[in-house]
Parts: sequence; C-alpha cells; structure tokens
Amino acid sequence: MADQSFQTLGEFIIDKQEDFLYSTGELSRLLSAIRLASKVVNRQVNKAGIANIIGKVGSSNIQGEEQQKLDVLANDIFIEALSQREVVCGIASEENDDFITVRTGPNAHLSKYVVLIDPLDGSSNIDVNVSVGTIFSIYRRVSEPGTPVILEDFLQKGVNQAAAGYVVYGSSTMIVYTTGNGVNGFTLDPSLGTYYLSHPSMKFPENGKIYSINEGNYIKFPQGVKDYLKYCQKEEDDRPYTARYIGSLVSDFHRNMIKGGIYIYPSTAQSPNGKLRLLYECNPMALLTEQAGGKCTDGFQRILEIEPTELHQRVPFFCGNTKMVEEAEEFMKNAQ
Ligand code: AHG
Ligand code: MN
Ligand code: MN
Repeated sequence: MADQSFQTLGEFIIDKQEDFLYSTGELSRLLSAIRLASKVVNRQVNKAGIANIIGKVGSSNIQGEEQQKLDVLANDIFIEALSQREVVCGIASEENDDFITVRTGPNAHLSKYVVLIDPLDGSSNIDVNVSVGTIFSIYRRVSEPGTPVILEDFLQKGVNQAAAGYVVYGSSTMIVYTTGNGVNGFTLDPSLGTYYLSHPSMKFPENGKIYSINEGNYIKFPQGVKDYLKYCQKEEDDRPYTARYIGSLVSDFHRNMIKGGIYIYPSTAQSPNGKLRLLYECNPMALLTEQAGGKCTDGFQRILEIEPTELHQRVPFFCGNTKMVEEAEEFMKNAQ
C-alpha cells in the first residue's frame, strides 16, 4: 500500500521556503495560487468535450493566432488566482496585448512579483484530446514596490527568474517547477485533488535519442538545422534518433527531459525569430532545462542571457540534453 509518495506539493513548498534567497513566504503563496489555478484548469481540460469549451472563440490574440475557448478560460482562471494573494503586482500573458497591473491597495508594497504566463500551451491539441500545458515564469519586480508596475519589470533576462515551471495536463496531470535549486515534479491525484511529489530532482539523462521538430517546415529551415536533421537520421553509432513531436512544447519538453532528447523550433525563411515566445515559453523552459542539467540556446547564444525588448518577442529555440544541443550548435556554426 505504501508505494506512493506522501509528500504533498503544499508541504514541499513550505519545506523548501528557507532555501530561497528572499524567503518571506511570498513566493510560497504565489506558487500556491498557481497550484490552485492549475487544478481548476485541469478540471476544465478533463471535461472539455462535454462542457462546450472545445473550439475557437472567434477572436485572435495580438500575435494573430486564433484563440480557443480554453485559451481564454485558462487565462481568466490564472489571472484571477494570481491577483488575489497580494503578492503579484503584474501579469503578462500570451493572451493579453499588454501587461496587467494588479490592483494597488493598502498592501501594495507587499506585492513584489510579476508573473509571465502561457495559460494554455499547445491549444491546437485541445479539440483532439491530446496533452496541453501551462507555462509560468516569475520575477521580482525591479521598480519600487507600492508603485504601479512598469514594462521593465517584465523585460528582464531569464537568468533573473525567481521561479519557473509548467503544468502538463496529460494522461496524468503534473506540475514541474524550479526555484533555482533543481527541478521537482508533482503528480495530481485527481480523486483527492492533491499533488504529490512523484519526480524529485529531475535531470536530463546524459544521452538522448529523441529529436522533436516540426519537420513539415524542413524546406524553410536554416542550413545548419537541415544538416543536423540529416545527422539525426543517419545510420551510424547510436543513430538514427527517434522523431517525436506532439505540438505542445510542454509535452514535448516533459518527454524529452525524462527520456532524453532535443527540441528545436528554429527560425524559418518567413519567421526569422521562429515561433516561440521568449518571455513566457522559452525563458521558463530554459531555466528548467539548465536546472535539470541540460542546455538551451537560440542555436548560438544562451536563452537566459538574451536581453528582452518586447513582451511578445519570439526567439529560435534549441533545448534538451547538453550533448545533443551542442551537436546541433556545431552544425549551426559550420553552416554560417
Ligand atoms: P500556443 O498553443 O501557446 O500558441 O503554443 C503553441 C506552440 C508550442 O506549444 C508548440 O510546440 C508549437 O507552438 C507548435 O508549433 P507548430 O504547429 O508550428 O509546430
Ligand atoms: Mn505556447
Ligand atoms: Mn498558449
């Protein structure tokens, strides 16, 4: 019977509070808000087919992408949960053109954190019952507490993140996060509504054999990526590698971190910066990757050191086992 972990996410957050640099309990409260919102979104995702929430809303976000009903619902749920604990002073989301200033009340000086979020990642997979996710990135504000947040609070380099993580709404629902002391994963027991520690100290295995890329775009890829893909497919040593691509960054990343692999969303002829967004997709994944012993670059440069200039900025993305990313980088360099 005692084959399950009995450490809950709630206990873990409190236990680890002391390890955190600015330990005052605020980050713990913020993580608790994310934990709660993820359970509400999970409930909606689980009954998507019967709750009239499959399909498009009929509107587009600032990036010209059609919003799904669940994109909007998940966005509302996370914003609501994050706004209520008096620790968050601003939120930037994939689904909102501009950042949101969280109300400044008598306790405004206590709200020191900004959150950047992709409320529903992989939304094209919702209608077909394939795993989707949520990605979050947390910073301490750089402007004075008690004053309204400013753009600079959000445009911080990834290395400054206080915490980052994702939720994967998969065959089971998991929350995986880091506060800069390794990566831990928790699985939701849906009958109890409680997350339990199931994947302590997650690490990329040393060697990986999976490559994940939307190969349908092959013709538009940079020469370095084309050359690397041919290398992945060559029968030599431990190759060919296996191709796996779900189309939800969260799910593709989660699998690759556990099994070993590389995820690439490169620039293309039409989109010189690729598709993925630096602030709420690439940076949080990059922090998790490095904390799990992997490597994450734009093909040349460390993602976490890129100086952001815009909220919805895109960036080419190479992420996974250190060895595999370094191999891919070698091909990029040689094709220059
Ligand atoms: P989102 O649903 O938040 O817009 O993100 C979709 C992203 C990412 O999750 C996924 O890896 C990628 O888009 C898939 O893009 P392609 O369909 O171009 O392969
Ligand atoms: Mn996304
Ligand atoms: Mn999204």
